[in-house]
Amino acid sequence: MKKNKVSFAIVGCGRIGTRHAKNIFNNSRTKLFIVCDIIKEKADNLAKQYNAKAVYNFEDLLKEDVDVINICTPSGLHAEMSIMVLKNKKHVLCEKPMTLNLIDADNVIEAEKESGKKFFLVKQNRYNPPIKVLKDCVYNKKLGKIILINCNVLWNRKKEYYEESNWKGTMKLDGGALMTQCSHFLDLMIWIGGKVKKVFAKMDNLGHPYMETEDTGFITLIFENGCIGSLQYTTCVYKKNMEGSMTILGNKGSIKVGGEYLNALEFWNVERLERPELELGNPANDYGTYKGSMSNHDKVIENVIRTLLDGEEIATNSQQGRESIEVMQAAYISSLKNKQIELPLNGEDYNFKLNEHSPLSGNKKNV
Ligand SMILES: NC(=O)c1ccc[n+]([C@@H]2O[C@H](COP(=O)([O-])OP(=O)(O)OC[C@H]3O[C@@H](n4cnc5c(N)ncnc54)[C@H](O)[C@@H]3O)[C@@H](O)[C@H]2O)c1
Repeated sequence: MKKNKVSFAIVGCGRIGTRHAKNIFNNSRTKLFIVCDIIKEKADNLAKQYNAKAVYNFEDLLKEDVDVINICTPSGLHAEMSIMVLKNKKHVLCEKPMTLNLIDADNVIEAEKESGKKFFLVKQNRYNPPIKVLKDCVYNKKLGKIILINCNVLWNRKKEYYEESNWKGTMKLDGGALMTQCSHFLDLMIWIGGKVKKVFAKMDNLGHPYMETEDTGFITLIFENGCIGSLQYTTCVYKKNMEGSMTILGNKGSIKVGGEYLNALEFWNVERLERPELELGNPANDYGTYKGSMSNHDKVIENVIRTLLDGEEIATNSQQGRESIEVMQAAYISSLKNKQIELPLNGEDYNFKLNEHSPLSGNKKNV
């Protein structure tokens, strides 16, 4: 008989794990539901809310009979956990970033191949209504030859954001503002602009001396198609988020998607194309003291279900996750070596492990 439901489990019952739970629960084609956290209270609370089973150890979760395990733990654990899930013959839905270095991304891809199971990556900003319009225009060559792609991530993360977490801002488990706050933007730049050939970057910790990683950077990308990209980011903006935007200039049109989190079509001037009416989008993930990206996890979960039950394509697959990791790794190396880095990475640059690198700010969290 054809399967008509997908069973999910979640590891990591924190901010984003909670959002996964809600969206799995709200989908009519999901079943069985287990949550796991090393903090018993967190797993119990989430389990109670959604009538799920709670387990407190990842090894125990691996023994459970589920189709998909959603990895919602600190970023530095994504690689090891994804590999273990795949080895235990279950599909993975992994939160961004896929891993913190390229070797780990390749190890995940290898495990995926060997397992015959699928790896899905969460990149929910691809579903933002203005981003879908932008992608469609570029894909259908409506903007002509692409000349420039610019992203600005001008956000604020306060001291409390780092203080209330034992892993955020650490080299080992977080990786920095590029990995944590900007990987969505970089993913979109690559999704829309294509393969990157060269990377030059400057990064520093300029406003959060109590955390280990960088909080500010400027990255120049040269794409294989010749277009130039720039990503300017910081989590040091005074008091609150200011802008999360993407501008694309082609020789037949210009589009800027902006707002606080890529939610608004701010500028539209495209040859023979009227400005479109946008479908209504979801609000941003609201975490109380700060706002994150647009909350499209419902669409991410739906893609997993449609892929497994209806043969749809994976929205963001492991190879695409790898592409972002390679560019981010190249950016860190470029900033450290003060030179332009060419892709594909090889030799010592391929082997570079950001999460084993020494702290930028001189501070060290005890994780
Ligand atoms: N897609 C998005 O927009 C988005 C938004 C926020 C966070 N994220 C990503 O989600 C991940 C988690 O972020 P968060 O903000 O929810 O963090 P969080 O600290 O709120 O939650 C992480 C949870 O994992 C648990 N955990 C840690 N080690 C564990 C282990 N070995 N076994 C089981 N549980 C364990 C912790 O106890 C905690 O409850 C990060 O990788 C982050 O980058 C993505």
